[in-house]
Amino acid sequence: MKVLVTGGAGFLGAALVKALAARGDTAIALDLAVSPVLSRAAAENGNIHVHTGDITDMSNIARVFKAESPDAVIHAAAMVGVIASLGSASNVFRVNMEGTINLWETMALFGVRRCLHISSEETYGHFTADRVTEDHPQNPLYAYGVSKVAIEHLGRTYAMTHGIENINLRTSWVYGPEFPRMRVPRDVLEAACNGTSLHLPSGGDSKIDHTYLDDFVDGVLKALDLEHHPHDAYHVASDSCPTVADMFDIVRSLVPGADISVGPGVYKHAGKVDIPRKGALDCSRAREAFGYKPRYDLAAGLAANLEYLRNRSIAN
Ligand SMILES: NC(=O)c1ccc[n+]([C@@H]2O[C@H](COP(=O)([O-])OP(=O)(O)OC[C@H]3O[C@@H](n4cnc5c(N)ncnc54)[C@H](O)[C@@H]3O)[C@@H](O)[C@H]2O)c1
Repeated sequence: MKVLVTGGAGFLGAALVKALAARGDTAIALDLAVSPVLSRAAAENGNIHVHTGDITDMSNIARVFKAESPDAVIHAAAMVGVIASLGSASNVFRVNMEGTINLWETMALFGVRRCLHISSEETYGHFTADRVTEDHPQNPLYAYGVSKVAIEHLGRTYAMTHGIENINLRTSWVYGPEFPRMRVPRDVLEAACNGTSLHLPSGGDSKIDHTYLDDFVDGVLKALDLEHHPHDAYHVASDSCPTVADMFDIVRSLVPGADISVGPGVYKHAGKVDIPRKGALDCSRAREAFGYKPRYDLAAGLAANLEYLRNRSIAN
């Protein structure tokens, strides 16, 4: 299969590109620029084809479709995160909405049906329970989550009017090697690994579904491979919600003597903006439809991420 991965140079996109190529698919990455991770991967595996271009210009997408004739798309290009959206809501909508519309229009022109859109638990706003299903009301608090809900809704319109099958894979806080933004657990693991101090004044009580990168990739590929989808939205996450304080405890047990601590209360994006009440994303629907079952609980994922950091610091 030939699969176009938009945002293929990013954290999730590059991991998906590598996994697709490793199993023998042709992985076509489209992004604004080539990241070091993507560049290394493409040098090692000829199944990876790299293209640069901005998805807000439809001709960039059409050029790639013409050159590569993809069979399906994994759509991971976006202006990502609450903080980015606070700074520039219009930019978030231009890239996330307009870029997605350009993608679907191009898919319709070239007769490509399936798009797996990487959506987010930010679409829910405040969770009403510690564990929620895909039917939870979508009342996002910030422009980023609003843009993701808008894509989900408009995808249903494009299904009717253009025959596009837009499947929304809602994930939560994915972490793992080369996570690009500074938030837990990256900052905690790096402090523990480098022997520096990290003392967050608040955040310990927030319950967050933290998904290890390998589980996320596994879920997306399983969704890609399912021929007929009974739903257009699934959780691909860890199905658990340890507190941030639990995370610090685990890291302290992995790195005895680590000088890290977190105070009580709600976790803040970039230390400034309260996150909504969150919880676990129930993954029963994805398990029943395509056999997704997360393998990493938080302790296992943190241990794997820490091992990566240690190996990287030895290599450098
Ligand atoms: N990482 C998470 O925890 C998480 C959680 C929920 C949802 N998501 C979603 O997953 C997707 C990927 O997120 P990520 O964590 O890999 O972020 P990322 O920032 O690492 O990747 C996004 C990629 O999109 C590219 N991009 C941005 N604007 C573009 C444009 N105009 N044209 C072409 N490419 C453009 C960026 O260059 C970047 O490489 C996003 O849709 C995000 O909303 C991520």
